[in-house]
Amino acid sequence: MKITKYKSNNCGELNLNNINEEVTLSGWVACVRDLGGMIFVELRDRTGFFQLVSDPQVNPEAHKTFEKLKTEFVVTVRGKITRRPEETYNEKYATGQVEMYPGLIEILSEAKTLPFMLDDDSVSEDIRLKYRYLDIRREKTLNNLILRHKIVTATRNYLNTQNFLEVETPVLINTTPEGARDYLVPSRVHEGKFYALPQSPQIFKQLLMVGGVEKYYQIAKCFRDEDLRSDRQPEFTQIDLEMSFVEQQDVIDLVEGLLVDTFKEAGVEIKPPFIQMTYQDAVETYGSDRPDTRFDLKLFDVTDIMQASTFEAFKGVIADGGTVRAIRIPGVANYSRKDMDDVRSLAISFGAKGLAWVTYMETGEVKSPVFKFLTEEQIAELQTRSGAEKGDIVFFVADKPKVVFDVLGRFRLYFGKKLGLIDENKHNLLWVVDFPMFDYSEEEQRYMSVHHPFTSPNLADIDKMETDPANCRSIAYDIVYNGTELGGGSVRIHSSEVQERVFKALGFSEEEVQKKFGFMVNAFKYGTPPHAGLALGLDRLVALLARTESIRDVIAFPKNSSAKCLMTDAPAEASLIQLRELHLKSTVTKK
Ligand code: AMO
Ligand code: AMP
Repeated sequence: MKITKYKSNNCGELNLNNINEEVTLSGWVACVRDLGGMIFVELRDRTGFFQLVSDPQVNPEAHKTFEKLKTEFVVTVRGKITRRPEETYNEKYATGQVEMYPGLIEILSEAKTLPFMLDDDSVSEDIRLKYRYLDIRREKTLNNLILRHKIVTATRNYLNTQNFLEVETPVLINTTPEGARDYLVPSRVHEGKFYALPQSPQIFKQLLMVGGVEKYYQIAKCFRDEDLRSDRQPEFTQIDLEMSFVEQQDVIDLVEGLLVDTFKEAGVEIKPPFIQMTYQDAVETYGSDRPDTRFDLKLFDVTDIMQASTFEAFKGVIADGGTVRAIRIPGVANYSRKDMDDVRSLAISFGAKGLAWVTYMETGEVKSPVFKFLTEEQIAELQTRSGAEKGDIVFFVADKPKVVFDVLGRFRLYFGKKLGLIDENKHNLLWVVDFPMFDYSEEEQRYMSVHHPFTSPNLADIDKMETDPANCRSIAYDIVYNGTELGGGSVRIHSSEVQERVFKALGFSEEEVQKKFGFMVNAFKYGTPPHAGLALGLDRLVALLARTESIRDVIAFPKNSSAKCLMTDAPAEASLIQLRELHLKSTVTKK
């Protein structure tokens, strides 16, 4: 007899309460064990595993089909739920106390031998990405997708309760200035013209505020052609939001509530308000604008001591506008010469020109290549300031502030990990506020926006935009979780006059502004509410809550680290006909 209804219940949801119920189950054969006569099958569907037993004496007809089963066949079965003999209870599964001797079984689809075993955790990521549809059958990958779904649902529930409107914005647009390279899509209709894919919905969400939407959100796809890392994908998803008639603190309060609800989905309880740290404090104390505060190791300033010393190398750096900062690393005073060479090479690979140190030996002896330049008092002051104890080394770097903080910040993370100082059970959330408005780009020889050009300058610094851009602060904020930037946002400029001043400070000519952002400057002239917003990286949020290193693990079909989809082989060549239609000519000669 053919089974017509595939499923009356889910595999993973059956237990002793279902005893004697006649049910129909469908799923994949996760494993078959033939114990000389009796055949045991673990049936798997999205909800879990369920044990089927076939006894040739009980159901001879069904048994013939059982004999044909191989792993990953898709089957449907019908029978009564029975209690397993108590000594065979399987604690591993929620359904471990029940089983079924199906009277009916039908093979819905056969399966070739899989390219890898689903329970083999050592399979390379490349193989898993090539056969991602099989990888998704693995509990780990599926659970990540389930968590992602729960987080998105919690996000929608929370924001809907707060009266936000979910609005979709277009994907074929003009360039958005988020600072990465655009993905371009050639237009067939308009010869020689290109759409850009959005780096974020930034411009549209601001125009929704001009449109009176007041509270907007979107689970938005963003596209950025940048160098990829484990926490960056060419296409990724933001929880993007924007609000009218609000200030920085309103956005912070709202996002803290959102994070409470989303973290709850991963079983993590967090308690706002989170610390707010200025950008300057973050960088000076932790060497990073996304400090990992799960461990201590703070940087400190020794510029004044070195300035007063006779160490010409450091004094020269200071005279050139540089700074000298230090960090105390506990318990490494026994490092060998080779260890120290390695540490020095590490600092140089991070961008330092050199590395100086003071070693506080266990014996009480204190050694340093720079002591010859320091007085007794200066040496004593160094120890007081560092809080160094026997067994510690204090490392120094002298350079331009940016280099010093970057090197020591990376040093701090390196030793934090190496020395096991990071408490993995901590969930440290903090806001970094008061970001600088501009950053000088040596490459472009001009000031660039640290956030984006629609970010409001701090009103106290507004006139510095023209006179002292390097010291002009913005009203931008980032939310940082255990040393990762989860999201960022800002209070926006809502006056077309200020917006034009910012464009000018960024070196855009009036013509360029008109051409690129004329519609936006113009829109602001028709009555614009004060507004502010933020975007959270959804992939990063889910990856961190799933406790996985790579955001690829929480994306159903990610690209690999060279922006390729190993399953579909995208990007691929276009045919000559397609290129011609798009008015393009490939400069790549076919091999
Ligand atoms: P921003 O550029 O800071 O801000 O992006 C917000 C968050 O998006 C995530 N993110 C990424 N995730 C994965 N892969 C990437 N390539 C990638 N790039 C960014 C990060 C980041 O914190 N429009 C503004 C937001 C605003 O001002 O409202 C914006 O996009 O988690
Ligand atoms: P020197 O007198 O040049 O041998 O330098 C003494 C110590 O200072 C050496 O250990 C150098 O590695 C270190 N040093 C030199 N330049 C820097 C720098 N810019 N930052 C940190 N240490 C440095």
